[in-house]
Amino acid sequence: MYSTCRSRSFQSSAVHQWRSSVVLDSYVEKPARPISLRQLIFFGGRNLDERRIIDFANYVRSELPVRIAHRIRDMQKLPYVVVTNRHLSEVYELYYSAFDAFRKIPEIKTVEDNDNFCQVVKRTLKEHLTVIPSLAMGVLECRDLVPPEELDKFMNRILRSRISRRVIAEQHLALTDTFNSPFHFPDSSPHHHTGADFVGEVFPRCNAREVVETVGKHAQDLAREANGPDSRVPEIQIEGHLDTTFPYILSHIEYIIGELLRNSIQATVDRHSSAAELPPIKILICHAPQHVIFRVSDRGGGVPADELADLWSFAKGPRPQARLQNFSQVPKMAATLQELQKTSHTHSRREGQDSSLSTLTSRPPHLRLGMGLPMSRVYAEYWAGSLELHSLEGYGTDVFLQISKLGNKSEQLNLDGV
Ligand code: COI
Repeated sequence: MYSTCRSRSFQSSAVHQWRSSVVLDSYVEKPARPISLRQLIFFGGRNLDERRIIDFANYVRSELPVRIAHRIRDMQKLPYVVVTNRHLSEVYELYYSAFDAFRKIPEIKTVEDNDNFCQVVKRTLKEHLTVIPSLAMGVLECRDLVPPEELDKFMNRILRSRISRRVIAEQHLALTDTFNSPFHFPDSSPHHHTGADFVGEVFPRCNAREVVETVGKHAQDLAREANGPDSRVPEIQIEGHLDTTFPYILSHIEYIIGELLRNSIQATVDRHSSAAELPPIKILICHAPQHVIFRVSDRGGGVPADELADLWSFAKGPRPQARLQNFSQVPKMAATLQELQKTSHTHSRREGQDSSLSTLTSRPPHLRLGMGLPMSRVYAEYWAGSLELHSLEGYGTDVFLQISKLGNKSEQLNLDGV
């Protein structure tokens, strides 16, 4: 067993590294310490000062190796034939070296220590940009080797955990930027040191209607690009509680809504290609005491019954394998801020920072991987929300996205809390 002997390393090259699993074991034994949006706001809120930056730095420093260790252990438990897949072994190696690097960083005591720490975090975030394409390719190549349910469980865990690590890492970088900014004065109005209402990466007042409008326009542009300049796109109609706001990470909600709208637009266009008019996509926003609910309704014909069961599967989804032959085609989906292409957006607030609108714009417009839905659900569930789809076969689809509105729910790392 891995806990009693030296674990093998999964290298695609002939060189096999041997690593003691004792250190890894000690980290796997530690539970992760999830954080809520409110806590993220609190850390970066009004009194962002040296103490808080250093406290948060140490939280991130100790949390990253724990969260990575759990996922390394998951990979070690996969059948050997899977982890020796070259794409998955690349991820394994990246994770192991990040784990080693972060666990060795001593306690952060000064602002200078923190600046050095931030350099390591930035470098690692960049190095890990290949993780999603590698996972996507790896899972596809292994789909006949392992029961798909097992691969799906693995994907859900590894993706959710990855989002969580990138959230705390990016939040820390953003807060450090704010702290180092010449305009930062502790105890002044939050606007002075959070920049255009953001607290780090968290937007305390995401406006539901604005998100749908902005993302909807991009999704329509993308559909036009994919289907030709003269092609038609359905109108997007928004109704319900239009003033609803809620705290969220903007890139997360934009990713989810973007994926839902892309699906609805394409289904509508395909279904009604010869009709005089395209039926609109209707988005209902509902502001409930604990939740904000988005219902996205289209008349794109629904999901064929035989595809429904696999809709949420990473391993079995209706992915056109031929299109994935070219690795570079796989988009950097599932992204948080750093992995996204730069785009101008009304909410973008810091030079060099971005919103996930670019997940819509950066991918090739024709590419449909079938991963948008499962990935969106990973995002929704991460902040204690949910995503459900109801197909009215032959007519259309209703998708319900429920967001926890109060920001008081901790990250849902995984079913077992790690
Ligand atoms: C990832 O992107 O997978 C990470 O784990 C990044 C984090 C170590 C900063």
